[in-house]
Amino acid sequence: MNEKIFLDESLQKIYKPSDFREIGHQLVDMLADHLSQVQSNREQPVLKFQDPEKELAYWKDDISSNNSIIDFYQKILDRSIHVHHPRYMGHQVAVPSVISSLSGLMVDMLSNGTGVYEMGMASNALEKIVTDFVAKKIGYEANASGFLTSGGTLANLTALLAARKAKSPGSVWENGHDQKLAVLVSEEAHYCIDRAARILGFGSEGIIKVPADEYYKINTSLLKEYLENAKNKGLTVIALVGCASSTSTGSYDDLNELASFASANNLWFHIDGAHGGGVVFSEKYKHLAKGIEKADSVVIDFHKMLLTPSLNTALIFRKSEESYKTFEQKAQYLWDSQQSREWYNSGKRTFECTKLMMSLKVYSNIKMYGEEVFERNIDRLYDLGKTFSRMIENREGFELLIPPEANIVNFRYKNISENDLNSLNSRIREELVLSGKFYIVQTMIGEDRYLRTSIMNPLTEEQDFESLLDEIERIANAIHNNI
Ligand SMILES: Cc1ncc(COP(=O)(O)O)c(C=O)c1O
Repeated sequence: MNEKIFLDESLQKIYKPSDFREIGHQLVDMLADHLSQVQSNREQPVLKFQDPEKELAYWKDDISSNNSIIDFYQKILDRSIHVHHPRYMGHQVAVPSVISSLSGLMVDMLSNGTGVYEMGMASNALEKIVTDFVAKKIGYEANASGFLTSGGTLANLTALLAARKAKSPGSVWENGHDQKLAVLVSEEAHYCIDRAARILGFGSEGIIKVPADEYYKINTSLLKEYLENAKNKGLTVIALVGCASSTSTGSYDDLNELASFASANNLWFHIDGAHGGGVVFSEKYKHLAKGIEKADSVVIDFHKMLLTPSLNTALIFRKSEESYKTFEQKAQYLWDSQQSREWYNSGKRTFECTKLMMSLKVYSNIKMYGEEVFERNIDRLYDLGKTFSRMIENREGFELLIPPEANIVNFRYKNISENDLNSLNSRIREELVLSGKFYIVQTMIGEDRYLRTSIMNPLTEEQDFESLLDEIERIANAIHNNI
């Protein structure tokens, strides 16, 4: 006789609708209050910095305490950085719109796996609508298509896998490497391109970094020489990667020049537009990415300039069929044939098997605020970058690195007769972060340390920049006077 099995009470309660309703309402109220506070009171900290070991100890204690789950959420809120604070100007993370965050709640509740059609009917359809929309904005013709994937890093790797498939003389997928392959890219490219090339098995030699000019754009006059040198070393260069824009300075490579060079030399032309590719939505700024429509593949992060929570990246191919060739592998339990090219089985083209229903978060932005919302956001943030850079130029004691093309502004303080500007600016940033009044980052430009701001929040105002510069000046004086 079969032994009767019982559903344990502890399992019954994990799906209690009343818990979902009650806790959910409280959580939503808490987050709505948070939004209202950060918008109305700029004096609140952007973050309350804590030493990592102390933070770890705090949570080790918490797990055995019997505080309520709402107390726990409150503590998470208190102990996290607040990107919705208008004085958050640090790393390139979008300030998600209300509707895209709420869509995230739905995404996590439904938890559709998305890789195959039935496991995400709605999300696969929305994904096609969203990615077709991006393809159109890029300026691609009708046979372009793409998908959403988990972040720019993974999307760049996936694009380079497609490039290898298309341009490598042998089939690395089937036979492994029998040639030394390589990619050409600006020395200013994000480190994930270097990482991708190494993961692809190209080794240090296979990532050829072309020097940038004084505006941190790839120096196109050197491409021929670098390609020739690579050939002479026995390397087969398969791809050229353009930055739109670079991470450190927000500089756009000359994409038209790169496209011509790639085409003349039979290279796959990929554009890393994780940060600045969003300009395709803007009439005012799309000129920065002129030539983007000539690329074989383009990456654009919705979770950077486009108001969507992390991670959410579009990878679009000029020729749809290329995207289906990347992973030629049988997964019998998922779909009948790898050869057929249905848009609705998104796992055929992505690295991920199970994938978040990312499309909801993008689609809901378009549905609720209209497609113009992306353009408005790009215009506002890029305009703010220009405003801030002018304020820096006009203020004594501050030095602007270059006039920014994007919303990334690098500058340093150099008023006080201080020999070691690197350590001065490093200390300024440290003090700023510890004070919690602003969040900015720093970067090395050659041997020099610069303060770096990415203006991500459209609610940031000129007054916030003024206060930031005042605060930097105050900290620098205090350091100088040894206070
Ligand atoms: C130009 C560029 N490419 C790629 C990435 C990596 O993207 P993700 O953080 O979405 O993996 C970044 C991140 O800042 C970036 O600025």
